[in-house]
Amino acid sequence: MRQDHQHYHTDLAAVDDRRLNPSQAADLDTIINRSRRQVLKGGLALAAIGLFGGGLLGCQRSPGTPGSAPLLGFTGVAAQTAADFDQVLVAEGYSARPFFSWGDAVLDNAPAWLDDASQDWQAQLLQAGDNHDGMHFFPFEDAPNTHGLLVINHEYINPTLHPDGLTFTHLADGRRQRPVDQVRKEQAAHGVSVLEIRRDAEGQWQRVAGSRLHRRISAMTPMAIGGPLAGDLRMRTASDPSGTEVLGTLNNCSMGVTPWGTYLTCEENFHNYFVNRDAADHATRPTHQRYGIGQDQHSAYYAWESVDPRFDATPDPAVEYQGHVNEPNRFGWVVEIDPFDPDSKPIKRTAMGRLGRECSVVSLGDDGRMAVYSGDDARGEYVWKFVPDGRHDASNPSASRHLLDTGTLYAARFDEDGHGHWLPLIWGQNGLTEDNGFADQQAVLLNARGAADILGATPMDRPEWVAVHPDSREVYVTLTNNRDRGSRFPVDAANPRANNQHGQIVRWREANADPAATTFEWDVFLLAGDQPGALDADGQPLPDNLIGNIQGDIFSSPDGLAFDGAGRLWIQTDSDDEAAHTVNTGCNQLLCADPQTREVRRFLVGPRGGEITGITWTPDYRTLWINVQHPGISYPASDGHSRPRSTTVVITHDQGKVIGS
Ligand code: FEO
Ligand code: CA
Ligand code: CA
Ligand code: CA
Repeated sequence: MRQDHQHYHTDLAAVDDRRLNPSQAADLDTIINRSRRQVLKGGLALAAIGLFGGGLLGCQRSPGTPGSAPLLGFTGVAAQTAADFDQVLVAEGYSARPFFSWGDAVLDNAPAWLDDASQDWQAQLLQAGDNHDGMHFFPFEDAPNTHGLLVINHEYINPTLHPDGLTFTHLADGRRQRPVDQVRKEQAAHGVSVLEIRRDAEGQWQRVAGSRLHRRISAMTPMAIGGPLAGDLRMRTASDPSGTEVLGTLNNCSMGVTPWGTYLTCEENFHNYFVNRDAADHATRPTHQRYGIGQDQHSAYYAWESVDPRFDATPDPAVEYQGHVNEPNRFGWVVEIDPFDPDSKPIKRTAMGRLGRECSVVSLGDDGRMAVYSGDDARGEYVWKFVPDGRHDASNPSASRHLLDTGTLYAARFDEDGHGHWLPLIWGQNGLTEDNGFADQQAVLLNARGAADILGATPMDRPEWVAVHPDSREVYVTLTNNRDRGSRFPVDAANPRANNQHGQIVRWREANADPAATTFEWDVFLLAGDQPGALDADGQPLPDNLIGNIQGDIFSSPDGLAFDGAGRLWIQTDSDDEAAHTVNTGCNQLLCADPQTREVRRFLVGPRGGEITGITWTPDYRTLWINVQHPGISYPASDGHSRPRSTTVVITHDQGKVIGS
């Protein structure tokens, strides 16, 4: 029974469900959040070394499955609706094992994890962070299916991070004071883990002891600013007067992988870490307002500003660069990391625009031109792509190392007739002018959301992950849900359900399959939710907004999305499994779809209270990793009382088959 379990997941934890787009929306102030989130990625299989330091790599595509076999070759599993479900259930013939949990060793000198969470921030800096999200396996060239680097995002932190949750002292002026050691531990539990792993003689994946490649990147790690905002006045703060170096990355949700072997980690809900208490200033500052930087003592969820002034974005005219008012400008970016060089400095790529960025997924054209697709996950935000000016040359990958510093950023418009347009964010064009608050291209990039409002991009139902078909380059995006559709945002063809609780998947084909095209054709791949005729918990017919058109197994709130090498579309869910609308879809899950037949089959179900996110494979697609983020009861212990831990799960077929075949 649920109430017998200690429930660790609280309101504080998950918050990626904001509505901030005022272009269709009144009432900016009533921003209510509650939800969860997640990620994934696959596609390019790479082997590389030291790219930023000068390296190389080869791009391999796995064979996947041959010829005429049906794409979905496994027996589906049932939805799990029990309140105390606390396992990972996977299709028959497969095994799913916990592999890497919050608190496990990353660096060799990490202490063992303690079940009471009593370890300090210095220990946390050596261990796996919290809330595993997007990830990618980078194979080593000499043994690509048995040896490589697993790179994992740690999105945010749960109250379980500390023995008795987060401590807040409420001050007389209404502000909240945090203990400095807790804040440091929370900052240490954010970021990215890089882990060298190898499959042993018994077929078990293990962390490689003694590797110099293990690395923890946190909210304290120095990072460079690349692209047009490097050194810009709007990036300067009291602690970084040069505007060229940021400490850390925040809310790393989904990700991407470049053809030159680097990892792109994406900063999603960075607004939850800042406060600007100066209402007059806030009202004139679109880089705060349009991105949801709050104004009161509860705006910054963890109140880090009480011990770390750079999270207090209230302007202070007495201090150089007004203190830290520009610090929020330094988040919301794609951060490029070379996982093969543990000494390399991560770089925030500002040419790609500042968003509540879920992912950055690369589509590479035959001619070396490319698109990097992103969702901006808030209610009524947009689908994006960035097209670098340069081309990637596979014979000279190190020449691509700064390819993401120059190019064109586009927001998508989905027209009612199935055509679509990519709207370029170019200063001086189509209203992106001084008169509308854009002094230069840097201003456009810092307030990309506001620029796309002017261009007339289509407000979407919370764009999350993007996946590109390995052969056709057809692009799919998850739109996870949007309860404001039909009220704040008008129903349209791509977002067709009012009070959209279950979400949909939309896909498009670029003109001539060219990633750099400016037009496309699109359709709705599926509407998630219950089958026609389904009943609620009281046996009553469900309202229309909860009925989908899935052919096969039902789910709610698609989020993670990736293709494997054979063209199977893997879908991960992040629904609120305590809500009435998920009574039939149950716990969050991993499903597999055939893009041609549209059949959907459930491959795996995760524990109650968690979401399923992050997806990556070995190049032969015979080992699959996924993440269970913020499980609610005790996973992976499944004993009903142990402290639950976000966990990377490794999945193999008992006879070594390609996963899903
Ligand atoms: Fe971090 Fe939109 O999921
Ligand atoms: Ca999440
Ligand atoms: Ca989500
Ligand atoms: Ca997500």
